[in-house]
Amino acid sequence: MADSIKASNITWHHATVSPEDRSVKNGHQGAILWFTGLSASGKSTVAQAVQSVLFESGCQAYVLDGDNVRHGLNKDLGFSPEDREENIRRIGEVSALFCDAGFIVSTAFISPYRADRDKARALCPDRFYEIFVKCPVEVCETRDPKGLYQKAREGKIPEFTGISAPYEEPEKPELILDTATLSLEACVAEVIQMLQKEGILQA
Ligand code: ADX
Repeated sequence: MADSIKASNITWHHATVSPEDRSVKNGHQGAILWFTGLSASGKSTVAQAVQSVLFESGCQAYVLDGDNVRHGLNKDLGFSPEDREENIRRIGEVSALFCDAGFIVSTAFISPYRADRDKARALCPDRFYEIFVKCPVEVCETRDPKGLYQKAREGKIPEFTGISAPYEEPEKPELILDTATLSLEACVAEVIQMLQKEGILQA
């Protein structure tokens, strides 16, 4: 997809409510928690659990989840490298809007390509936290909650990440969560600690 703007005669409107106004009202900063990892690595589970903790403590929190977003906004996209790139481009833009609106937004997409994740980061570099949900493919395959790994092994799903399509591990993520060994509670605690350390949440 082209990066340039197709429309002409458009101008940028400046907001009358500033990011500072929003953070004072919310009691926290906006941020993007970009969860990346294989299917069944635990991205959505951790993102949802983090959202619950944040929500219960009064924060503006939201999760954009791959499977769900592919039912709506991205229902025209499949799993070719080009479609995955467009999937992540749109999510990068949507999450930047949520961040601008003062939310702590978590994205749970495989986002297998480093270059695509880096483009999403570039939209909000100061507020972007890449969280590598690290879990060996063998473990994901044992979990296989949707039976997709089995289907992929049987050749019924082409271009399946980790089996017949690549996953490029993050080189310098802000956080690594090893879900093969860490409990869900421990993963959530690490994310919350990071948000406090980074000044997104008040400690
Ligand atoms: S991404 O690669 O474009 O980031 P995304 O996170 O939106 O992927 O969607 C991944 C989810 O789609 C998986 O958790 C799985 O349920 C489903 N899925 C269906 N086909 C594939 C495939 N070929 N590769 C990976 N996931 C797939």
